[in-house]
Amino acid sequence: MPIRNTLERWGSVAKFFHWAIVLLVVTQFFLALIAEGLPVGLQKLAVLARHKSVGITILVLATLRLLWRAANRTPEMPATMAVWEKTAARGAHALLYALLLAVPLAGWIMSSAKNFPVSWFGFFQLPDLVAPSETTFDIAHDAHEILAITLGVVATLHLLAALKHHFLNRDVVLKRMLPFARLPAVLAALLIMGPGAGEAFAAAPGTLAGSDTTGSLQFRFTQAGAATTGAFDKFTVTLMLAEDGTPTRLAVAIDASSLDTKDKDRDSALRTADLFDVKRFPQAHFAATRFKRIAHDRFEASGKLTIRDITREVTLPFTLTAHAGGNTPGSVIAGELAINRLDYGVGQGEWRSTEMVGNVVTVIWSVKLAPAP
Ligand code: HEM
Ligand code: HEM
Repeated sequence: MPIRNTLERWGSVAKFFHWAIVLLVVTQFFLALIAEGLPVGLQKLAVLARHKSVGITILVLATLRLLWRAANRTPEMPATMAVWEKTAARGAHALLYALLLAVPLAGWIMSSAKNFPVSWFGFFQLPDLVAPSETTFDIAHDAHEILAITLGVVATLHLLAALKHHFLNRDVVLKRMLPFARLPAVLAALLIMGPGAGEAFAAAPGTLAGSDTTGSLQFRFTQAGAATTGAFDKFTVTLMLAEDGTPTRLAVAIDASSLDTKDKDRDSALRTADLFDVKRFPQAHFAATRFKRIAHDRFEASGKLTIRDITREVTLPFTLTAHAGGNTPGSVIAGELAINRLDYGVGQGEWRSTEMVGNVVTVIWSVKLAPAP
């Protein structure tokens, strides 16, 4: 698992911080609840000592997490989210970070004010933040309680939002934050690697080909906050398979000037030098020779995507399934890939701004393939 974040997914360090902190914050509420139910005595002292040590751990982890975040890029939110949704998500995340620092700090101040110095699991003692004072204690106590409850409420809303992304919007937001997200796919790949691998789809070995006449290649982008769809009307797809049906080479060639967004003026603008510059760069293409099987009919192709004069390494997930009906043997290749248009220079001058036209463009394709003549 990559350590660093990319524009598409969280790296393992960011995931570790997120889930370690979630676990510890939940622990904090349990410990506080247990302490509250105990009479003043040694047992309560012990539970609160544990609560304080875990709380300081959260303070340190949240600080390291913010530093790591500042040194990294963060994945972009899906293009399908409205501007207000993105603003709400950013606001909630900022509030969560602020609370992850404020709640333990208030707790630490409260303990200092009560002259109960804080020790970290008995290993070392932390300095007192304020001098003992009943007034300070009262204020810090109330602040700690109110801020902790706010953290609980915002985190619950945040959890509900994550579930909505997964089950209603069906986007990648929850999946890309989950640890071991690839585990089910790896297990599935192992399971099918016995006899029968390669039978999952009825692909004939050899070379398969398809084009705009047998499928579609669409792209989705946001314009003025609204999801908009366009297509390329001319393209070809060539897929080579080994004897056992696994892909060995994939080539997609797209005629850039065939772009079609159902608006002539916009299409002309897209063809100009500031955007696709189709005169100088008539073709966009993808070529891959490295493949990974993710599940019985799901693959990842790693290769080079060229748009305009910029070539970048991308990993293209796709499915390859036998097509139902029809009497020509072959398969349907299909998938989705989100890219950033600015990574490829599609947007020069004023078009570099992502305020009106979003940076993320999702390419959606599905093409019927048949044995090449
Ligand atoms: C993210 C971290 C933390 C969370 C979510 C959290 C949450 C809570 C909650 C919900 C309570 C019960 C509310 C109340 O009765 O006042 C509580 C009580 C308490 N917390 Fe924390 N806390 C955190 C960190 C800390 C830290 C770092 C300290 C001290 C260093 C601390 C010290 C205390 C103490 C002493 C109490 C008992 C207050 C009383 O006497 O009623 N907490 N905490
Ligand atoms: C104490 C509880 C939690 C806290 C304090 C918390 C905090 C945060 C913060 C601050 C971020 C923003 C990351 C960044 O932009 O740097 C984040 C992201 C995220 N959290 Fe949580 N979280 C909590 C619980 C949960 C739970 C229970 C879930 C899901 C079941 C969840 C799912 C997510 C997801 C999916 C993201 C990524 C959003 C994206 O990719 O844009 N979180 N969380």
